[in-house]
Amino acid sequence: MKINVIQENLQNIVADGLIIGIHQGVKSLPSILEMLDEVMKGTIKEIIRSQEFKGKEGELLTIRSYGNLSANKIFLLGLGKEEEFQEDTLRRVAGEGLREALKQHCERVAVAVIGTKNISVKNQGQCISEGAMLGLYKFDRYKTENQQVTREMQEIFIWHEGQGAREAIVEGIAVGKSLAKATITARDMVNEPSNVLTPYEMEIRARRIAEEHGMEINILEKEDMEKLGMDCFLSVAKGSDIPPKLIVMKYRGDDQQEEVIGLVGKGLTFDSGGISLKPGAGMDLMKGDMGGAATVLGAMEAIGALKPKTNVIAVVGACENMPSGKAYKPGDILKSMKGKTVEILNTDAEGRLVLIDCISYAIKLGATKLVDVATLTGACLVALGTTTTALITNNDDWLEELKKASAKAGERVWQLPAFPEYKELIKSEIADLKNVGGRYAGTITAGLFLGEFVEDKPWIHMDIAGTSANEKTRGYLPRGATGVGVRALYHLVEQQ
Ligand code: BES
Ligand code: MG
Ligand code: ZN
Repeated sequence: MKINVIQENLQNIVADGLIIGIHQGVKSLPSILEMLDEVMKGTIKEIIRSQEFKGKEGELLTIRSYGNLSANKIFLLGLGKEEEFQEDTLRRVAGEGLREALKQHCERVAVAVIGTKNISVKNQGQCISEGAMLGLYKFDRYKTENQQVTREMQEIFIWHEGQGAREAIVEGIAVGKSLAKATITARDMVNEPSNVLTPYEMEIRARRIAEEHGMEINILEKEDMEKLGMDCFLSVAKGSDIPPKLIVMKYRGDDQQEEVIGLVGKGLTFDSGGISLKPGAGMDLMKGDMGGAATVLGAMEAIGALKPKTNVIAVVGACENMPSGKAYKPGDILKSMKGKTVEILNTDAEGRLVLIDCISYAIKLGATKLVDVATLTGACLVALGTTTTALITNNDDWLEELKKASAKAGERVWQLPAFPEYKELIKSEIADLKNVGGRYAGTITAGLFLGEFVEDKPWIHMDIAGTSANEKTRGYLPRGATGVGVRALYHLVEQQ
């Protein structure tokens, strides 16, 4: 899909469709639409005057042009109230509007946002591009030819009347495209079934990202991990016949700087629960238990493409959690790379075991600040639902940075408490820690378990169990994987 700038008079634009974004509460025809309305014989003016179209966020009204225009259809698209209009509103309505335009057979569509002052021209270009690419995304590669939806958006023209707007929009488009492409990389991995997206396939995709952007990549095999004493990670992987992979990617954006941001991702390509087997219903969703890893690799792609001036290393632990004669068992006691021992009470609390060894390795490689991302607990869905990512931290300044970055991406995050009382719940009678903290506060105890391994480093844990995939299409998030966190982590790195 191409995205370009267009500055022609609206009535002269050659395209299949013309999306005109209008704010709620506009009572008369905006003057910039006068010439278009004239060609349309007063139709738009009448629709706005009669309040047939009110401009509520996401509202869409289709007008046929009956040959009066080159475009077959005009879509009036509601932007909502101007004072409530934010960058994420623009992403959402752009995604929804373009999806509808495509549904109505428009493959070349111009988008004009009328009367918006609170978003810079560059950011308008960026948000429309993000909203378009993310909103039009579909995962249909397993539909055989004659079942595939063949219609695809070919080209989008972002319209702006402003003199000199072209350059700013072009800049915005470039950023938006890179961020959306990286998010789609993550979505594809999460949507892919576990028979395709094995740890080995994750390695291949990670190598592709590293190669494309000239980043260093290292893969640790089982034997390498044995030498490092990663008994926790390896025990989770033991039940599967597919070998685990530890993927390390390095980005150097500033050699003068000592800070290295460590991004750590949970990459369970399938989580059956292991010997503590999960119930059958819904188990298919556990193909997406590598969502944290996908987010981290997607963020690395965005970082590689946009080249912020910071140093980053990514550590992703990829394996399967399966029951078998070789699997680890409840009651086992494992030694982590860091040396602390863990009593296993439930083999389905496996993500934290993989993550602690990855965190230790990230620190060994020089990470000075950490963010881990994981589909870690079902309890997270109970606490915050499907729209908000849970955060746990040991450092409020670092947390503020991530909150700011998430807001830029239009993503909801919420901090959970990390009071010392919760740590009591993961102390074991016979080892240093146990891998489950009981029935209550499951997201917090899981997070604090990881916190035991971050040493003195500023650290944030993101539990994306609820936000990594959607049951229903919403805004620029089509059903299935969302790619949550990819853009937020990019902004976090870029802000430093
Ligand atoms: N991968 C799951 C968490 C999960 C659940 C992610 C639902 C996405 C949707 C994780 O490995 C897990 O099984 N957690 C257990 C922990 C429990 C055994 C302490 C859970 O949440 O039930
Ligand atoms: Mg599990
Ligand atoms: Zn899991």
